[in-house]
Amino acid sequence: MNLLRELEPVVAENLDRHLSAAKEWHPHDYVPWSRGRDFALLGGEDWRPEDSALDPVAKTAMVLNLLTEDNLPSYHREIATRFGRDGAWGQWVGRWTAEEGRHGIALRDYLTVTRGVDPVELERARMAQMTGGYDSGDKTQLGTLAYVSFQELATRVSHRNTGKATGCPLAEKLLARIATDENLHMVFYRNLMSAALELAPDEAMEAIRDEVVGFSMPGAAMADFARASITLAKAGIYDLRQHHDEVIAPVLRHWRIFERTGLGARGEAAREELAAFVADLDARATKFTERRDRARAGALAAASA
Ligand SMILES: [Fe+2]
Ligand SMILES: [Fe+2]
Repeated sequence: MNLLRELEPVVAENLDRHLSAAKEWHPHDYVPWSRGRDFALLGGEDWRPEDSALDPVAKTAMVLNLLTEDNLPSYHREIATRFGRDGAWGQWVGRWTAEEGRHGIALRDYLTVTRGVDPVELERARMAQMTGGYDSGDKTQLGTLAYVSFQELATRVSHRNTGKATGCPLAEKLLARIATDENLHMVFYRNLMSAALELAPDEAMEAIRDEVVGFSMPGAAMADFARASITLAKAGIYDLRQHHDEVIAPVLRHWRIFERTGLGARGEAAREELAAFVADLDARATKFTERRDRARAGALAAASA
């Protein structure tokens, strides 16, 4: 609780910065309403697979992103429980929740109006996803701050690359807009964690190590997650290389993790473990990319033979 109180002025300052940087936007502006039509209950036609103009990979990615956004009530509970509802923390929790709420609204409206995916299947998946909820376990406040710093950036990368994969300029614009929000969220949490590293260097370093080593996406409990994440990795929407280069490494660099002085024995040990893990992640990323390149070259050769 002490840490939260000590961080409160940094929260207030970053909330102000966030509010002046965040531009207002509206989900309805990104939805091609003229392409919409009634479904059978209102006298129209129900969804058929040929209605969807999205390619299968983009479909998988959009559904994964949307179902992840849909679990917002659980995420709200997680951060409201860790950070509280009072003062600047409470204001942030409310504002963040409201911004995240927009993401699911916009994505669902887009997919429903364009008939991008089966709306019945999507609704059933949402019910299953939200009924299961999200539980981060016994993460500490520091662990939560470290986790969301990486998770918001991972979500940004995933939304942005999903947009590119859709082949629809409007979906790309929408997902880029959402990705901009996720980036601002990341900046907020990253700045808080920077302050925490000054206040409690050893504990913060241990939390960062734990969250990097144990990182998984918020949608990881989803029924189809393992298969979907392999599809996304193969398509370059979110793979180990991006995870290392665009998510983990830049945040660690911003915190000057490997240049910091003034750590105690626990902090030093945590940093060493973190360094070893990141080096291994980098090596695994290289292996994955090489394997993928070989597979792509093989598929190309087979197609032209
Ligand atoms: Fe979001
Ligand atoms: Fe976010």
